Amino acid sequence: MTPLPIQETNGFIWIFPGNTQLADPALIPPFPEFGQEGWRPVHGEYTWNANFSRVVESGLDTSHAPFVHKPFFPNRDDAVVHPLDVKVTDHHVSTYVQLKPPKRLGLLKYIIKKDRDYSSSVLTGYLPCINRIAIDFNWRGYQYIYFASNIPVSDNLTLTKWIGVRNFLTQAWGDNNSMKNTVETYQEDKVVVESQPSTPSWVTQGEDLLLASDQLILAYRKALAKATMSEAAKS
Ligand SMILES: [Fe+2]
Repeated sequence: MTPLPIQETNGFIWIFPGNTQLADPALIPPFPEFGQEGWRPVHGEYTWNANFSRVVESGLDTSHAPFVHKPFFPNRDDAVVHPLDVKVTDHHVSTYVQLKPPKRLGLLKYIIKKDRDYSSSVLTGYLPCINRIAIDFNWRGYQYIYFASNIPVSDNLTLTKWIGVRNFLTQAWGDNNSMKNTVETYQEDKVVVESQPSTPSWVTQGEDLLLASDQLILAYRKALAKATMSEAAKS
């Protein structure tokens, strides 16, 4: 049995597989809201019959909401592809997106004003398998941040462990609503993610049709391909 370095941070236990000399806690993605006063966490896990890269890309898809997620369905006819400012480093890709506000369901419909100009989100993918989706409702500073590690169990099975934090309805009685919204979003995404090719996305060569709205996904694939090549060169 080989002992592996671990570190407990931000509600997760991080394991450093591979070369133990390269284990660096500084590479753990930031989640500064976790554990802070005024932020209430919920957490859970779920599985996907898909490669982890397809799961990450679902959280980087800037245009799918009106076509996949029920609260956004009424916005389909107004769907627009805006230019994206995609930020890329060796460790993450990220962009900011504004959307027409969704029809809120559950408790949110009672506490969030209907006629807001927009809601926004910052979508981030940390290499290789972490999503952060930070939603700003553009109403009284209310935010929900979804942070997930999508762990490859095999080429075609991914285990997601997630934490969601909110800075509104921070009492325990709001937890069920928060969990329900997150799990329903997962179930809606699951149908699409599991219809994707079972191969890792970053080795795809012209088999997928990517559109202008897929710039963040393309940036993630390029970053993963680059990281994979540099790891191969080291070994
Ligand atoms: Fe989604």
